[in-house]
Amino acid sequence: MLQNILLSLFHKLITLTYVPVVVQIVGFDGVEVHGAHGYLLDQFLKDQVNDRTDEYGGSLENRCRFPLEVVEAVVNEVGADRVGIRLSPFADFSEAGDSNPLQLGLYMVNALNKFNIVYCHMVEPRIGSVGGPDESLRPMRKAFNGSFIAAGGYDREDGNKAIAENRADLIAYGRLFLANPDLPKRFALNAPLNKYNRLTFYHENPDPLVGYSDYPFLDEESNRVAS
Ligand SMILES: Cc1cc2nc3c(=O)[nH]c(=O)nc-3n(C[C@H](O)[C@H](O)[C@H](O)COP(=O)(O)O)c2cc1C
Repeated sequence: MLQNILLSLFHKLITLTYVPVVVQIVGFDGVEVHGAHGYLLDQFLKDQVNDRTDEYGGSLENRCRFPLEVVEAVVNEVGADRVGIRLSPFADFSEAGDSNPLQLGLYMVNALNKFNIVYCHMVEPRIGSVGGPDESLRPMRKAFNGSFIAAGGYDREDGNKAIAENRADLIAYGRLFLANPDLPKRFALNAPLNKYNRLTFYHENPDPLVGYSDYPFLDEESNRVAS
């Protein structure tokens, strides 16, 4: 009972406050529904953490129900052309793993097709520890009707290759972008990249800006070399 009240409150929070505010008032281009990496929606999706016995737990269809309801609610607020989703069926962060990530990923993209959202952003199996060594995002890429973004362990060359081989429409970069605020420019020039410092990724450093906004731009680097 309490869980259902909380679900419905969360639903209202999305539709009445957060989503309209960020898109219509703050002026963001859209909303990426975060269904990855052990956060709330991923905890519904994954059979290793979802132990509900109501219509939001158990079968694949039930586990996917709430994330899909959230997508539908966001689409109704801001329009499908402003909505994307991030999913990581193969990852098991925060113990949120699934016994059949391929089946889960495929079910989700097929179900998402009916909302006509702009993109599905999916994390590569190599980033998680669930799934076999031969697993790939190809089946989901093939099944999804919108733009498909792949993320996880890509560098410039790999990313270009994935696009050339039609394995994705776009590649998302995490660590390389963190360490290179001008990553697109560096990729375009094939310029050397700043190396990321893993020690400053999370909360180890008392200064929250260290490791986030202090990596040099290309111009700053050449100025430094010149001076
Ligand atoms: C410091 C840091 C924070 C991250 N935070 C999140 C997060 O909050 N949510 C999420 O889904 N992924 C998060 N990620 C994962 C990245 O979005 C990305 O999927 C991951 O780094 C793999 O891509 P890459 O190999 O290009 O870095 C984080 C990664 C890093 C390095």
